[in-house]
Amino acid sequence: MDLMAMLNESADYIRSRIGDEKIDLAIVLGSGLGDMADEIEDAVVIDYHDIPHFPVSTVPGHKGCLVVGRLEGHGVMCMQGRFHYYEGYSMSEVVYPVRTMKVMGIGSLFLTNAAGCVNKSWKPGDLMIIEDHIKLIADSPLRGANPEALGPRFFDMTRAYDRTLIGIAEKEAEKLGIDIRKGVYMLFTGPAFETPAEVRFARAAGADAVGMSTVPEAIAASHMGMHTLGISCLTNMAAGILDQPLNHEEVLETGERVKKDFSALVRSIVRSWPVFF
Ligand code: HPA
Repeated sequence: MDLMAMLNESADYIRSRIGDEKIDLAIVLGSGLGDMADEIEDAVVIDYHDIPHFPVSTVPGHKGCLVVGRLEGHGVMCMQGRFHYYEGYSMSEVVYPVRTMKVMGIGSLFLTNAAGCVNKSWKPGDLMIIEDHIKLIADSPLRGANPEALGPRFFDMTRAYDRTLIGIAEKEAEKLGIDIRKGVYMLFTGPAFETPAEVRFARAAGADAVGMSTVPEAIAASHMGMHTLGISCLTNMAAGILDQPLNHEEVLETGERVKKDFSALVRSIVRSWPVFF
């Protein structure tokens, strides 16, 4: 089946569940941050299993549903659980939900994730606005025939992370007294955490954080002309910085510890989210 026909079927199904609710932005909740979806009012919860052509999440700590409703005065569609390359999905499957959102008419995207901290002057629990990213590994979600209806074959990535949204995020963090960081996120495929040598490489390349998500979605969103904001919760110092092994529990524990700040920040940013045309 043709990609656009599949996306339209997925979008039609979601519309059949949510009615005429106007959605202003889509939010993707990362590792350990999924509870924020519980704060959405008048929520319609749609299991990924029920959406035609949607992939299904397999990671502990990642739920698999769309939560559609209102947050801070805006109509939001929230992904509680996302898809990762390491789960075995192709890059185009990883970005399928974001494409569905665009087909539904949603013009902006708020991506969140948990990431390892590469910048030695920062600490676990810090929040980082993604200014730019590095993707040296894995194929592009746009590899293959270009779906012209979504965007052009060759497209610009200099504004992949929207400057207006970055400015809003900085301002809202300041109002909340959160000492927010700004930096470069580098994609690794996982599921192994990076080696210390890979982390040194990432730092030398200009990365401040490493992680296993977000970049494919940001590329697909950029292709479709969506306005994108990304925020990472730096849950741990990346491998080799401290003299201790990494584990997924640490990622979840730090996510838990900073959840209050993080969700307060997400809410404030959503409250100030501009209307894009
Ligand atoms: N590396 C990659 N992904 C991550 C990390 C990390 O150290 N922490 C949380 N997600």
